[in-house]
Amino acid sequence: MRILFYSPDSEAEIWTKGFAEIMPEAHLHFWKEGETLENSEPADYAIVWRPPISMLQGRTDVRAIFNLGAGVDALLKYGDSLPPAPIVRLDDAGMGVQMAEFVTHTVLRHYRRFDDYEEQARNSQWQVLKPYDKANFAVGILGLGVLGRRIAQALQHFDFPVRGWSHTMKDVPGVSCFAGKEGLDEFLSGTRVLVCVLPLTSETSNMLCRANFSKLPEGAYLINVARGAHLAEPDLLAMIKSGHIAGATLDVFRNEPLPKQHPFWQEPRITITPHIAALTLYNESIRQIAGKIAALERGEPIAGVVDRERGY
Ligand code: NAP
Ligand code: GLV
Repeated sequence: MRILFYSPDSEAEIWTKGFAEIMPEAHLHFWKEGETLENSEPADYAIVWRPPISMLQGRTDVRAIFNLGAGVDALLKYGDSLPPAPIVRLDDAGMGVQMAEFVTHTVLRHYRRFDDYEEQARNSQWQVLKPYDKANFAVGILGLGVLGRRIAQALQHFDFPVRGWSHTMKDVPGVSCFAGKEGLDEFLSGTRVLVCVLPLTSETSNMLCRANFSKLPEGAYLINVARGAHLAEPDLLAMIKSGHIAGATLDVFRNEPLPKQHPFWQEPRITITPHIAALTLYNESIRQIAGKIAALERGEPIAGVVDRERGY
């Protein structure tokens, strides 16, 4: 079994060792810039994270392309230049619990006013602040997929009212569900903390914009753990300055790493993390991909196959 592999940030040794333990029959070939179809080894499968198109274009040998992340926007942007093989995204693979930790931490930090207390502590100020009313502190999750549902489940443990928005209507116990363009305004109007965990598609790009922020109640808070291109950056800055948005925690950006001169760094009400909300975990990912390759080899269907038309 020959696997063509590309991931710019990860260490070859870890992947090689991991696959050797679980799939000893697999030979990993680490694709390098400059390798062409003509001088590259043939492959049965490809495993990739944000590859250049030159790695995949024209490859009719691969039977599936495994994406080393949940979001496939960096692959689908290549459109018809991609080989026809199914694209398979990571299906949780340890990311759900990380997302739940990240978002729960951020919601609690804001709800319990730890950000305000940190500010006070910097000024040696001892003052009890008025607690927020939890009944009016609904967390609204844009995207009720694998990760959104896991976030919803975690927040319910702390009794936050939880609402969710998706493409097709869902029935998630304890979660007020909304769907489609027709459900968006009502979803936003009752949301105090807006969490974006949507895939990036032509429909969801720039969704975090002035028009939608205006529909949130005064003092709403934003958490974006999806993709930078969901956010109209100048709109967020303007809405924070006006006070309509109280602040934001952003894990993803249009340009990563976020450039040093970017105004977000200067805005104290914006908390920045370097795209770490849910990291791809080696062991979980290897186990999941190896399991799916084995299922494909047996001719069985697998979960997580991307619908190219839909974009996720
Ligand atoms: P998923 O299981 O495919 O779920 C996507 C959800 O978004 C689904 O509920 C879907 O609705 C909804 N959706 C998609 N397009 C929509 C639209 N136009 N209107 C309304 N709802 C729409 O994806 P996932 O595994 O939860 O991952 C979500 C995203 O998280 C990824 O695509 C990636 O960009 C991001 N991510 C970020 C990090 C990080 O570290 N920051 C890590 C992992 C993932 P339906 O269910 O009705 O189809
Ligand atoms: C990370 O951003 C992912 O999509 O898995």
